[in-house]
Amino acid sequence: MHRGEGERVWAIALALGAAAGCFGGPDPRPLARDEVAPRAPGAAWAYPEELHRPYAVLGTNAGVDDANGKPARIPCRVCHDRLEPKDENRYALRIGGFHAGVAIEHGDLTCRSCHEPPRFEGFRLQDGRPVAYADVMRLCAQCHGLQARDWQRGLHGGMTGHWDRDSGPRTRNHCIDCHHAHRPAIPRMVPAPLPLPRFQDEPGQAARTGDLDG
Ligand code: HEC
Ligand code: HEC
Ligand code: HEC
Ligand code: HEC
Repeated sequence: MHRGEGERVWAIALALGAAAGCFGGPDPRPLARDEVAPRAPGAAWAYPEELHRPYAVLGTNAGVDDANGKPARIPCRVCHDRLEPKDENRYALRIGGFHAGVAIEHGDLTCRSCHEPPRFEGFRLQDGRPVAYADVMRLCAQCHGLQARDWQRGLHGGMTGHWDRDSGPRTRNHCIDCHHAHRPAIPRMVPAPLPLPRFQDEPGQAARTGDLDG
């Protein structure tokens, strides 16, 4: 056997060896069902799952950024520590004055269906139990049990990071990452016009524009 043939035999042997996993690489065969080690029930994951929180405090957006570059918020207590709730606002869907910009498009819910009087620092459930801002998903879950259950199972709301938390951490989205609490419907998509051809003025482009229109 001359030299070229010898090299070819080696190359084939190497390829076969690699395919069979002889050289220490991971075994590419799919594991059989009984080779997969089951996770012990309740066994701790190597990495945590965190809930993303859009804002640290409940407050109105001041329209400027704070020192960390996040939108600065005026905490509700700045005003509501000194304001008495008005009886006429009990069933309000919309109030004037400072909150004239807050418009509710969320069933027939009034401010007090969610915000807890008299200080409005937090929220409350139907039966009056308080819910802190940090736990506000419990408020959503009270009325949207199906979505809350789906969220818990990872079927609604999405996540970023690792599926397998032995490989890395995961972050779950908060309901109010996607839904505005006052107008929770996801806006319909607006079909945008086609982009303008970049070279419209160049000779020969008129025909292509015509194609796109047709
Ligand atoms: C700059 C002052 C100011 C800040 C800050 C402020 N509010 Fe108010 N809020 C008012 C005033 C004034 C009223 C009363 C409006 C009226 O005349 O009816 C009011 C009324 C309300 C009401 C209706 C009251 C009722 O009796 O049912 C709710 C709910 C409310 N605010 C929630 C909040 C929340 C939640 C925050 C923080 C995210 C907040 N407010 C921050 C000034 C403020
Ligand atoms: C479905 C429950 C719900 C109802 C009804 C509701 N809110 Fe809210 N509101 C929330 C939640 C939850 C937040 C926190 C949202 C966030 O931090 O992004 C919030 C935030 C706010 C804020 C601070 C953010 C902003 O938009 O300035 C104000 C002020 C406020 N609400 C006032 C009102 C007023 C006034 C009414 C009635 C006219 C009302 N809310 C009705 C749940 C509700
Ligand atoms: C007190 C009960 C109540 C609470 C609390 C509540 N919702 Fe709702 N929500 C409703 C009702 C009622 C509707 C149906 C509105 C309609 O059909 O017009 C609704 C509708 C919705 C919709 C569908 C909107 C659409 O038209 O597609 C979303 C999304 C939603 N809510 C999210 C939330 C989130 C997020 C929270 C927590 C911040 C929350 N809700 C808290 C009662 C509630
Ligand atoms: C990653 C974004 C995202 C997150 C987080 C999220 N949702 Fe949704 N949600 C959606 C989208 C998208 C729809 C579909 C809207 C549509 O069809 O118009 C939806 C629909 C809904 C609806 C209306 C369902 C229907 O059949 O009309 C409700 C209620 C709702 N979500 C509640 C929640 C609650 C409660 C949470 C938190 C536990 C949550 N969502 C978290 C994106 C999200």
